Amino acid sequence: MKNKYLYIETFGCQMNVHDSEQMAVLLSGVGYQLTDHAQKADLILINGCSIRDKAEQKAFSELGRLLKFKDKNPRLIVGFGGCLAQHLGEKVYGRDKRVDFVFGTHNIHQLPRMVDAVLKERRRVTQVAFSDKIESLGIFAPPPPGSLGAFVSIMQGCNNYCAYCVVPYLRGPEMSRAPEDICNEVEKLTRCGVQEVTLLGQNVNSYGQNTAFDCDFPKLIRLIARIDGIRRIRFTTSHPKDLSDGLVECFQSEKKLCGHIHLPVQSGSNRILKRMNRGYTLEQYLAKVKRLRSVRPTMAITSDIIVGFPGETQKDFEETIDMMEKIRFDSVFSFKYSERKGTAARQLPDKVPEAEKRKRLIRLQNLQNLHTQEKNTALEGSIQQVLVEGRSKNSDLDLMGRTEGWKIVNFRGGSDLIGALVDVEITRGFLHSLRGKMIES
Ligand code: SAH
Ligand code: SF4
Ligand code: F3S
Repeated sequence: MKNKYLYIETFGCQMNVHDSEQMAVLLSGVGYQLTDHAQKADLILINGCSIRDKAEQKAFSELGRLLKFKDKNPRLIVGFGGCLAQHLGEKVYGRDKRVDFVFGTHNIHQLPRMVDAVLKERRRVTQVAFSDKIESLGIFAPPPPGSLGAFVSIMQGCNNYCAYCVVPYLRGPEMSRAPEDICNEVEKLTRCGVQEVTLLGQNVNSYGQNTAFDCDFPKLIRLIARIDGIRRIRFTTSHPKDLSDGLVECFQSEKKLCGHIHLPVQSGSNRILKRMNRGYTLEQYLAKVKRLRSVRPTMAITSDIIVGFPGETQKDFEETIDMMEKIRFDSVFSFKYSERKGTAARQLPDKVPEAEKRKRLIRLQNLQNLHTQEKNTALEGSIQQVLVEGRSKNSDLDLMGRTEGWKIVNFRGGSDLIGALVDVEITRGFLHSLRGKMIES
């Protein structure tokens, strides 16, 4: 039988990346082998993101490019899925008639059947219905050979309805996976050589709420920390309103838990935080940062910030700048507010003009670059534990790894160290990476 090839293009967050891995596993069960070359594919999937307008545009321009392969290969079928497909449903066909099928975030398990129907019946298939249980959540995606790190979904969906955000409408309500299932998956991953797991959820801090099992997020971390073979645990994303004392204690007692937290603040103005429906004040956020730093003084703290949310005045923006000066994040993902259909913020008055948003974003990013550089320079002379991931992109003589704080370190060393946890003295801190020297033990 001729090999059938599958090409997947993924946009958006780690969850979409993880979903794509599960799609590949499912389709390998019906004979599709993953390829990096779209021109050789029999099946192409676009897994799109809808978080901001720019993300949508990117997925559509890629769709246009990939559909052109149909001119040369009329047997090629193209499916459009993920958060963006969930958002648009059948409207996707209005964007381009050549799309063969559309599938949503809860319909990944139906992929083999959908592909079969398109091939046999030569008709369009659309599946975007939500269900109470996401069938694909438990699919085990073996990491590529040699991987040291892997992502593990611990929950799906979101109940928070931040005023700007489409995710709750695209991924449905929050659902936590049973702790036994998660631990089994982590154990399986260790047998494939994985040493570092990143636990995924839109709000990992509310893990276990409204479930039949008695396990909250700190308890889950402790269960995973007990698994032999796991040397590092990370998680993302953490909602500040649900960050508990129990999690702070985990940072104190669990040595395997990396000293890094991504804690999106979104704004430094209480007025804007309220309009965003974030559920915390700046003072509460600052107090949580302080507690975290009191148990792990060197902990890396990263964040997300939106500029130009409807009603954000110059004064509100200055409060965000002041907050950044106070906290000094290790790095920040910053975005111009992008209006999304169906969200509450769409109804809010006082939209900020595009030019003003751009101006604020540039100022914020310049300030953050100063802080990131300052943080990285401060690491010079320190000894960091580094998990060696592979050879460096910059030089054949160098290895590349990450610190607990998720910072890239390049240093001299032989390939035999790939996969090892080594101590590295930091000799230079740059804006996007660190340079170091391994300490021979
Ligand atoms: N669940 C995560 C984040 C998901 S989206 C959390 O709550 O932290 C990642 C980031 O995209 C958000 O933190 C926010 O900063 C940004 N974002 C989401 N919707 C946006 C919008 N409409 N416009 C601009 N940025 C947005
Ligand atoms: Fe969106 Fe807020 Fe949910 Fe994050 S917590 S996914 S920003 S609604
Ligand atoms: Fe995008 Fe969906 Fe993630 S909208 S950011 S891919 S949850």
